[in-house]
Amino acid sequence: MLKTLFRQIGDYRVASLMTPVLTALEVVTDVLIPYVTARLIDRGIVAGDMEQVYRYGLLMMGLALLSLCFGVLAARQGARAATGFASNLRQAMYRNIQTFAFSNIDKFSTSGLVTRMTTDVNNLQSAYQQILRVTVRAPFRLLLSVLMCLVIDARLSLIFVVAILILGFSLYHIISRVSRLFAQVFVQYDNLNQSVQENVQAIRVVKAFVREDFENKKFSRAAEGLYRLYVKAEGLMALNHPVMNLVMYGCIMALSWWGAHYIVGGTLTTGELASLFTYVMSILMSLMMLSMIFVMLTQSAASGRRVAEIIDEEADIVNPENPLMQVSDGRLSFHNVRFDYPVVRKNDVKPSDEKVHHRRSALYNVTFDIRSGETIGVIGGTGSGKSTLVNLVSRLYDTTQGDVLVGGHNVKEYDLTTLRNAVSVVLQQNTLFSGTVLDNLRWGKADATLDDCRRACRLAQADDFIMQMAEGYESRIEQGGTNVSGGQKQRLCIARALLKNPKILVLDDSTSACDTATDAHIQRAFREELPGMTKIIIAQRISSVRSCDRILVMSGGQVTGFDTHENLLKSNQLYQEICAIQNADRGDFDARGKEVTDEAAKL
Ligand SMILES: Nc1ncnc2c1ncn2[C@@H]1O[C@H](COP(=O)(O)OP(=O)(O)OP(=O)(O)O)[C@@H](O)[C@H]1O
Ligand SMILES: [Mg+2]
Repeated sequence: MLKTLFRQIGDYRVASLMTPVLTALEVVTDVLIPYVTARLIDRGIVAGDMEQVYRYGLLMMGLALLSLCFGVLAARQGARAATGFASNLRQAMYRNIQTFAFSNIDKFSTSGLVTRMTTDVNNLQSAYQQILRVTVRAPFRLLLSVLMCLVIDARLSLIFVVAILILGFSLYHIISRVSRLFAQVFVQYDNLNQSVQENVQAIRVVKAFVREDFENKKFSRAAEGLYRLYVKAEGLMALNHPVMNLVMYGCIMALSWWGAHYIVGGTLTTGELASLFTYVMSILMSLMMLSMIFVMLTQSAASGRRVAEIIDEEADIVNPENPLMQVSDGRLSFHNVRFDYPVVRKNDVKPSDEKVHHRRSALYNVTFDIRSGETIGVIGGTGSGKSTLVNLVSRLYDTTQGDVLVGGHNVKEYDLTTLRNAVSVVLQQNTLFSGTVLDNLRWGKADATLDDCRRACRLAQADDFIMQMAEGYESRIEQGGTNVSGGQKQRLCIARALLKNPKILVLDDSTSACDTATDAHIQRAFREELPGMTKIIIAQRISSVRSCDRILVMSGGQVTGFDTHENLLKSNQLYQEICAIQNADRGDFDARGKEVTDEAAKL
């Protein structure tokens, strides 16, 4: 984990090195000041020599100024190093997430990824800044101060040894308890973050189900739990202060007692005693700081692990060594394909063997061939494996067993970009991005002209409604496409996929929110204007697939029939049942819907 994180320091190595060096210089100049003060008192004030007072006074000022300069420079370099480090971490995570296959994303939840990129990186940023500054400053200051005490009076330094032992012992006990509490705090934070992200993202659903009260209560519980943990942790931390004060005043009293004796005895000067007082404070403060660093390191270790996990995650799907850079045509074959979804490991809990054993394949024994330019319908109950099937074509997942061939070659032989440009998939859960309509369309093809876009939109039956929007193709789409209707969003997504001019076009339930008339128009446009393109249309309605060249019937992860509408009606029981149910339902459709369905059937 540390190696992964340190690699991200990158160009900020110099700043990261300069910070401790400058901090060390700051500490050296700072620690010398009380020593000079002692001289000023003894040789100047006590001796009544004004010249010495000026000399040491100037020296003190010089040292103070130097310390200030080093301090400012160290702080600036530290901030630069830490923010640079955080920015590198974010970029590394982002870059790696972009290479993730669907199976990688399944492993981390989306909100988990967001928390890692924000809260966790922020934790690491402040931890890194502290490490650069404080981990050098505290021990160094401690060491130098002890050294100076030994130089001034070795006998009195024994007092410090006792004090350090007492303080160290009690701090250790407090801090170890606090860090255990903080470990819990972080788990709670995660839950809270997840709940915020999930519910704010899905606020419409929460409202529609009138679950505000429930969600509020759930959130309050999480927030209160966090509050209680924090109060406990901070309560323990607050004990630090009285302990610290006790030890400090004890030290000062002991120092005054022995010190006074030594001064009377003539073995110690007043100035030396005064500077010893300053060093006491310095030593004890350093100890305190060291203990805080310990708390912080344990806190950020969890964040570090979570960030490193993302950077180190290897994409499950990568480019082959000598990839094919061209897809010749839109042929598609499945040879004895089986596919199992990987079992998701949440919070590193290993799946029990029993679960793995009982896992059912999402697809098995799938074999079929599709000719280039054919229009294929796919129909089957929910969960029968339709989406899984088409996700294998553009290699969003890799098969567990068997081969998928596009244009006569295994999909694993192609360059990923080439393959995904040739196989355009309109996913079942699709999304639009914030930006104009044109921006969204050009996602499919960056250099598409307005005419290209309009042609694709006409085919997808989207041109009409776009032209009716206030600013036509320049109208804004909100994040996630919340300001267009479900059917409009689907049509925009289809147009976006068409712009790629793919060899194979896959529509995964992409017209489910469109009325039957629009659906039929889209089908007709495809057939007339895109004859060379292989089209795979997943649908729930028989009316959407009955005019296809052939129809694939899926059930429980298997293909149970692959033929024309007429033949399936004769031979496939499942297909007959679906038809029977949907025909019976048709009585409920409005007259226009029925007309269009019939029209679609004729086409
Ligand atoms: N990301 C996933 N992780 C684990 N299991 C999954 C995942 N996606 C789907 N499944 C499972 O795989 C099986 C097939 O799902 P698939 O999405 O292919 O069905 P579908 O035919 O497209 O259904 P629908 O008509 O509802 O879209 C289901 O049992 C489902 O629970
Ligand atoms: Mg599906």
